[in-house]
Amino acid sequence: TAGKVPAIEGDILVYAEGAQSGQPLKASDLTDKITRAWPQGKDKDGKPVIKKDEPNNLLIVFKFPPAEIVAPTDLKGVQDGVVAYSGICQHLGCQVGDNPSKPETILCPCHSGAYDPRAGCKVIGGPPPKPLPQLPIKLDAGGVMATGSLNGPYYGLTESDWKSLLE
Ligand code: FES
Repeated sequence: TAGKVPAIEGDILVYAEGAQSGQPLKASDLTDKITRAWPQGKDKDGKPVIKKDEPNNLLIVFKFPPAEIVAPTDLKGVQDGVVAYSGICQHLGCQVGDNPSKPETILCPCHSGAYDPRAGCKVIGGPPPKPLPQLPIKLDAGGVMATGSLNGPYYGLTESDWKSLLE
């Protein structure tokens, strides 16, 4: 169903939790801490659909001083320091979170997997086998819009599963 399709170009990112749940992200409200979001696309009749029927579509979005964002982040998918990734740990699929004791990193609460969100969410600790894939975005009308799909499979999918899902 449309609610399970991964984020694609043109999807709008909406808050996944909190008082503004389901409303478009406001780029000006993003911070260097995690904001959880869902992609919102359209069904075949053109009606908006929040793609939360697939829990692995959950995204995390940040806004950093642009100069802090470094390789291997795909800078073509970043605008004004706003960067988005899969929010699901690549180890066994838990939701990643902020890391109060080391705020420049994010942490998976399940087995202490750690990622660097300023550097392409590369793995910097624990068992995750690969980085969190990045969702390329641009800012649009004060919100955040996907300009493509995640640059790799989210948790639990092989490259070939992922390619067939995007076809
Ligand atoms: Fe994230 Fe194990 S599920 S570290």
